[in-house]
Amino acid sequence: MLKEPSKKYHSCQPINLSDRTWPNKKITIPPIWLSTDLRDGNQSLPNPMSIETKLIFFNELVRIGLKEIEIGFPSASEVEYRFARKLIEEGLIPSDVTPMVMTQAREDLIKKTVQSMKGAQRAILHIYNATAPTWRKIVFDMTVTEVIDLVGQKIKYLKSLTDQESETEWILQYSPEGFSDTELEIALMACNTAIESWEATPSRKIIINLPSTVENSTPNIFADRIEWMNRNIKKRDSIILSVHPHNDRGTAVATAELALLAGAERIEGCLFGNGERSGNCDLVILALNLYTQGIYPNLDFSNITEVARIVEECTKLPIHPRYPYVGDLVFTSFSGSHQDAIKKGFASQKENDFWSVPYLSTDPKDLGRSEKNIIRINSQSGKGGIAYLLEQNYGIVMPREVQIEFSNEVKRITDSSQSEITSLELYQLFQKKYATTLPH
Ligand code: KIV
Ligand code: ZN
Repeated sequence: MLKEPSKKYHSCQPINLSDRTWPNKKITIPPIWLSTDLRDGNQSLPNPMSIETKLIFFNELVRIGLKEIEIGFPSASEVEYRFARKLIEEGLIPSDVTPMVMTQAREDLIKKTVQSMKGAQRAILHIYNATAPTWRKIVFDMTVTEVIDLVGQKIKYLKSLTDQESETEWILQYSPEGFSDTELEIALMACNTAIESWEATPSRKIIINLPSTVENSTPNIFADRIEWMNRNIKKRDSIILSVHPHNDRGTAVATAELALLAGAERIEGCLFGNGERSGNCDLVILALNLYTQGIYPNLDFSNITEVARIVEECTKLPIHPRYPYVGDLVFTSFSGSHQDAIKKGFASQKENDFWSVPYLSTDPKDLGRSEKNIIRINSQSGKGGIAYLLEQNYGIVMPREVQIEFSNEVKRITDSSQSEITSLELYQLFQKKYATTLPH
């Protein structure tokens, strides 16, 4: 690593928006959700999903409650095209779910993408082009005028095709790729051109999707950018403002939350944060962050372990044990003082009370998580945790003096083994020491 990284890396530049309003706002309703698990999530896998696997994932997304699902990039691969056709021809898309398909701004690809949705009741066509200077200069060698003209021409072309397919309700989504790196005035020009070219109206809205293709700033700066766009964009009543945060700095969820405060209405992301490089915004964390603020997210994670199992099976990517809400260890305490507080918290928590158990942000039961693993015993644990386990699992209520004596014994054992002791082992030890009778 460099001792002077400032010679290699730019710092993010604040936006001149001294009358920003988002810091004083509060999220009160859930956003419109779009899952890009089957597109951005799939593009980022070492082994992309087969049609069969995509279908399992698609059905799970529908079950969870996603109403907008990006199903793929049909012009980029035959599998993606066939998957789109299968969903439509076999009637596998529920009437309240809208599929989205992505295309680059090239006429042959646009045509194939429109064809891939033929016969759909409703479809979102997602067209994008890179607007950020690094891409303009290094990748495409295009001037700003050329980039903006491309948006206008290709959206008009797309519209000419969809106008001929009136059996489908077509919705357009435009993304200026690299928005987080693009000069705001240029991003605005590109988006306004898309809005005009699609002839968006309040009853025929366009989705303007602003990606942090590469996350490059603190979330407050992204929020300022969204508030600025929200204020300056044309025909605000004819657009749905969406964001698509990536997680290069590990702050995609925070970026999405602040973007909602700043005026975004729709969030794109993947379950458990899968996606390019360090991932897309994690829809599960975001939804459950809302839930634990008292807002029902319209997504059902009441059996989160089963959702995780399906996602791991489809993506072949494991979920870390410390991953918020879902990781195996996130509701587990080993530390004695934590266990003691949790034990008291559970004892004082009544059925209809607001949730208030120390060290637990969420009631594990709400997510279908077992309360069994909340307390686990190792050398860091104390008498409270040991007493809790014996009482919960074996109905043994120890007087305080016995708790102290028995926990000293347990500590001696776990200190020397340097490993966890299970609830059954605790029980056997207790039984041996105090000669109690095993229940039948
Ligand atoms: O990250 C991105 O910019 C995307 C599209 C929205 C172009 O995946
Ligand atoms: Zn992306």
